Amino acid sequence: MISVQRPTNESKRIVVIGGTGLIGSKTVAILHQGGAEVVAASRKCGVNTFTGEGLKEAIAGGHVVIDLSHAPSLDAKAALEFFDVSGKNLLAAEAAVGVQHHVALSIVGVDRVPEQAYYRAKVAQEKLIEASSIPYTIIRSTQFLEFLGGIAYASTDGSVVRLPPGLLQPIAADDVAALVTEVALAHPRNGIIEIAGPERAPLNEIVARYLKAVGDPRKVVKDPEARYFGGRLEEESLVPLGEARLGHLTLEEWLRHSRKEAPEQPVAARVDQGWKEDMKNEDQPLCRGRKPMKIRTIIAAIAFSMAGTVFAHESESETVMKNFEAAIPNIPGKSLIALEVDYAPGAVSPSHIHAKSAFIYAYVISGAIESKVDDGETRIYRAGESWSEAPGATHSISRNTSKTEPAKLLAIFVLDTNDNPLTTPIK
Ligand SMILES: NC(=O)c1ccc[n+]([C@@H]2O[C@H](COP(=O)([O-])OP(=O)(O)OC[C@H]3O[C@@H](n4cnc5c(N)ncnc54)[C@H](OP(=O)(O)O)[C@@H]3O)[C@@H](O)[C@H]2O)c1
Repeated sequence: MISVQRPTNESKRIVVIGGTGLIGSKTVAILHQGGAEVVAASRKCGVNTFTGEGLKEAIAGGHVVIDLSHAPSLDAKAALEFFDVSGKNLLAAEAAVGVQHHVALSIVGVDRVPEQAYYRAKVAQEKLIEASSIPYTIIRSTQFLEFLGGIAYASTDGSVVRLPPGLLQPIAADDVAALVTEVALAHPRNGIIEIAGPERAPLNEIVARYLKAVGDPRKVVKDPEARYFGGRLEEESLVPLGEARLGHLTLEEWLRHSRKEAPEQPVAARVDQGWKEDMKNEDQPLCRGRKPMKIRTIIAAIAFSMAGTVFAHESESETVMKNFEAAIPNIPGKSLIALEVDYAPGAVSPSHIHAKSAFIYAYVISGAIESKVDDGETRIYRAGESWSEAPGATHSISRNTSKTEPAKLLAIFVLDTNDNPLTTPIK
């Protein structure tokens, strides 16, 4: 891990926009552990940079604002609109209270892959920051190691993953958060700094190593014509061309680190959950003005926030973890989300309604779960059994039938990309 200078006693109030996301939650945890006054702001905390809701209140008294938000959709128009509108709202709110340092996380090579729609949106975000009156530092990072699964998914054609051999230098989210913290506590650069992982190799080779390590049978084919999220890659499109701060964790170390943290979980879930380690303190100021949530609820809430959705059951005995999320490449506007739902012995989910576009497949991994959907029968499903739920279904009964054994469910949602929340409790 990168060593991080601890915030001093005269520490400043730091607002982390997107403080419940992958990098945001880790950054909030580091700042909090260092004793800083830190506020995590996101829609889950009642702060929406796009609509402006709660923004003024969240920024009030803030000295440093770190923007770690991410567009809820990768669709070109939606992403551009998100970064444009949110950026303007955020910078205006900061100017009004005299924020002294605005830090934003962007992407190495963001201006070198013009066909990539999301990158164009990030360039627009950078330009707004550069044109504002607020002292700033833009941090451009290479791809997160946690994102390798998403790259593989987006480039999958049947059982083959087609990727160009352009160089990649991926960095672990833990290292990103540590560097973001360090930069935020330093003086504004009024410029761009770059961060990257410790090793550089062709994209196809890195993804092949990753898939092999996690036991994924897909074959990676080197294809110089293959696109990276719609963009053509040159050899050095995605790696720093000049000086860069480097993280410490290589791909293999990061995988080992993830396995150590959660040895009982499937690898695909393990590698995406390093942030859990940082969430041991129940008093973390996850959201401004909210009572600290119980740790189980925090985990669920963050897992859902990573999926870009805004719901977690407030139950103390049910934990929801995002296992996977991606836009479906050949069905524009649709996404697939997989959630792991762990039921403690005797746990009961509140009755709820699902998002109106969500078609759901539920598979019991272990234990036995009693379920009733819409007007269907009330039935006990055991490990290996499954059911499906029509869009907008009412799920009136969902409970672990055992008072002594846990149960676990995998729920796969196919839904409109912007449809959320996934689930709304019936009051
Ligand atoms: N993936 C990569 O490899 C990579 C590489 C370099 C840079 N980056 C950049 O790093 C940044 C952080 O990425 P990440 O993976 O940590 O993202 P993430 O896990 O998807 O988190 C995104 C955060 O943004 C918040 N958010 C979304 N819409 C919001 C809104 N309208 N108002 C306020 N908050 C909102 C979300 O919380 P709510 O849902 O509660 O609102 C969440 O906390 C992104 O800007 C991304 O472009 C990513």
